[in-house]
Amino acid sequence: MRVLHAILASLLAIPAESTYIVPGGRWYDTNGTLINAHGAGITFDQKTGRFWWFGEYKTEEHPEGGGVSVYSSEDLSTWTWGGLALSPIDGHPYISSKNVIQRPKVAYSPETNDYHMWWHADNSTYGLLLQGHAVSSTIGGPYSFVDATAPLGNWSQDFGMFTDYKDGKSYALYSNGDSLYGRDVYVSSINDNLTALERAVYRFPKFDLEAPSIVQTDKSYWALMSHKTGYRPNNVVAFRADSLSGPWSQPFIVAPLNTRTFNSQSGFTLRIPGTKKTTYLYIGDQWDSNTIWESRYIWLPMEIDEKQKSLDLAWHDVYDLDVKTGEWTPIKGTTYTAGNARTHGDAYKQEAKFATDGVILTGIYGNDSTVTFEGIEGSGEPQWVSFYYQNIDDMGFGDQPGGTPDRIGGAWQLRRISSVVVNGDTSNVQTLYQRDTHKGIILSTPLQLTLKKGKKNTITVGGLSNGFDYKGADLDRIVVYPPEAKGK
Ligand SMILES: *[C@@H]1O[C@H](CO)[C@@H](O)[C@H](O)[C@H]1NC(C)=O
Ligand SMILES: *[C@@H]1O[C@H](CO)[C@@H](O)[C@H](O)[C@H]1NC(C)=O
Ligand SMILES: *[C@@H]1O[C@H](CO)[C@@H](O)[C@H](O)[C@H]1NC(C)=O
Ligand SMILES: *[C@@H]1O[C@H](CO)[C@@H](O)[C@H](O)[C@H]1NC(C)=O
Ligand SMILES: *[C@@H]1O[C@H](CO)[C@@H](O)[C@H](O)[C@H]1NC(C)=O
Repeated sequence: MRVLHAILASLLAIPAESTYIVPGGRWYDTNGTLINAHGAGITFDQKTGRFWWFGEYKTEEHPEGGGVSVYSSEDLSTWTWGGLALSPIDGHPYISSKNVIQRPKVAYSPETNDYHMWWHADNSTYGLLLQGHAVSSTIGGPYSFVDATAPLGNWSQDFGMFTDYKDGKSYALYSNGDSLYGRDVYVSSINDNLTALERAVYRFPKFDLEAPSIVQTDKSYWALMSHKTGYRPNNVVAFRADSLSGPWSQPFIVAPLNTRTFNSQSGFTLRIPGTKKTTYLYIGDQWDSNTIWESRYIWLPMEIDEKQKSLDLAWHDVYDLDVKTGEWTPIKGTTYTAGNARTHGDAYKQEAKFATDGVILTGIYGNDSTVTFEGIEGSGEPQWVSFYYQNIDDMGFGDQPGGTPDRIGGAWQLRRISSVVVNGDTSNVQTLYQRDTHKGIILSTPLQLTLKKGKKNTITVGGLSNGFDYKGADLDRIVVYPPEAKGK
């Protein structure tokens, strides 16, 4: 099937289906369409033996009220589109395309033998702050709207749901809004029929956090949440506890400082109990407020150490996850660094203490000021290439795009866009989005490229318009990964 798919994919010029997990890449479903399921909730379903990914279906026209899409998978990397699990209804007070339908989560109730979807239900000005509830007899839906209610008489914003694997009990997680009277995050138990909230089990007081999720190990609970910076990423924090009702620890930061959690926001976590080990996945969003409907996904394994009471996210460009054994393996790539690249026009190598070669490629602009990496070994098949970059647009002017979040009153420019050309073929320009980073912080972002077999490939990077100018981000290195093994 994979070979057949690969042939079809090349005929139809759609990307081959992926089995690697590549955070921040363009992820396609088995039909070759970009996966559109933001603010995800993933449910493993015993009946079908599959993972089901629910998320916000975002379009340019309806960025918040597009309904809930569903995809299913056996391996967490090959996803089949299952349509809209919850469709917007014209004129409906809670699920019209003018409403906000965010962060859907689904759980199964053995009591009633049906599936329950819960989400943050709101109007376009976030004045309702409710929790929506819909039900279906099959996990894929379609789900029927039941109601939208104020949880325990209070407000509810970003919604999360957690099911304790030891006793099957489910909990609603929600921030209760931005008002001075809110700014708490609640853990509230849900009844066994999954039809209503029972009681607040814990309240995280006045931390003013959002996008909550809980992951459970054999011994403890870890709650991840983000700060409130809109669609801009920040340092996600975690709290630890032995029991859901607390006491919970102080929050601590889970990813290297100033990476803004590798440019992502928390929202969900997934426990994958395998035959050899249990893996815990961070399921984050890389929001792009310029084109919110094509925001990306950042999924990374979490390293949890019970003795140290630590939870850490480390970056991996490409990794292979085996959901049967629970094991995951980072894939090794070949690195090509800035020091060996060729510059054209006004692009140049500038001393940079933090860069791999002590120099970074800068001044990349438009078609003429470009840089070229040479002597790149390719396989003749689509393979992932990660571009390690620095984008310090946050050094710009406060009152215009390019302004800074590190400056009082600053605006900020979300991203630069580079052009990527393989072997000089300008008829096939790839676009590389490079989100802003802190000064001196190098992050990576991937593209799937087809290089020729052999060692004579070149990759040339220039700048495309991001609506502001034609600058490409500074480059430190690129890493070329092998294509996925056939017949896996
Ligand atoms: C498959 O892709 C085509 C082309 O993008 C699209 O028109 C069609 O709706 C998709 N079908 C499914 C089932 O996703
Ligand atoms: C839960 O579902 C069962 C089976 O449908 C029903 O008998 C019971 O009344 C329900 N309980 C609540 C609290 O809704
Ligand atoms: C949203 O609901 C709030 C509270 O009812 C209301 O004040 C506000 O006008 C509503 N916004 C829209 C766009 O209907
Ligand atoms: C609503 O939440 C606020 C802040 O957490 C709390 O002070 C208040 O008691 C809650 N109201 C109800 C009705 O639970
Ligand atoms: C780069 O070349 C393309 C195609 O010729 C052109 O449309 C674009 O305007 C050029 N960009 C700049 C900054 O000159």
